[in-house]
Amino acid sequence: MRKEKINVFDYANEINSVLRPGILLNTNGDKFNSMVIGWGHLGIIWGMETFTVYVRQSRYTKAQIDKTKEFTLSVPLDKKFDKEIIRVCGSLSGNDINKADYVTLVEPQTNHTPGIKEYPLTIECELLYAQDQVLEKMPESVIERYYSDEEDVGNFHTAYIGRIVDAYIIKED
Ligand SMILES: Cc1cc2nc3c(=O)[nH]c(=O)nc-3n(C[C@H](O)[C@H](O)[C@H](O)COP(=O)(O)O)c2cc1C
Repeated sequence: MRKEKINVFDYANEINSVLRPGILLNTNGDKFNSMVIGWGHLGIIWGMETFTVYVRQSRYTKAQIDKTKEFTLSVPLDKKFDKEIIRVCGSLSGNDINKADYVTLVEPQTNHTPGIKEYPLTIECELLYAQDQVLEKMPESVIERYYSDEEDVGNFHTAYIGRIVDAYIIKED
């Protein structure tokens, strides 16, 4: 397996086009874990290339990022989604299962969090900044839609800005 380095900004359209069905946010704290995310963005802050993700407090992923201060994103290419990976990583918790059993891990290049062969566009990040969302600053419509069900009251998202430390495409040859 080989890693072909990329300028990740050349792939901004490709990444944006698959965010709604979901990309993968991998972490590697007590163990490897991956969750589907649909919210996030590539960008620049403080002169650094970054990818920002939004993780609810209840996710197993949150404790992992808080501990290791890094994450890796895995993005499908050519819209090749894997339904089983989406089901497992998008609805089950790392508290209950070992998600490494459902994906093919690929050793990281610069941070310590693996990529995933099935989703070859890989973005390795180190945590730059984290910001908890604040109820008082949210529009009423957002609170109503995302934070009003019994289990989601107070279950806000944290924005994690990751500084991109490597980006490449995993190639099988
Ligand atoms: C399409 C899709 C997009 C999602 N986007 C997010 C997201 O941006 N942030 C989030 O906290 N959860 C999101 N989720 C939910 C998590 O993927 C899901 O709760 C997952 O099981 C959490 O895994 P974990 O507890 O092992 O971290 C999304 C789920 C799907 C199916």
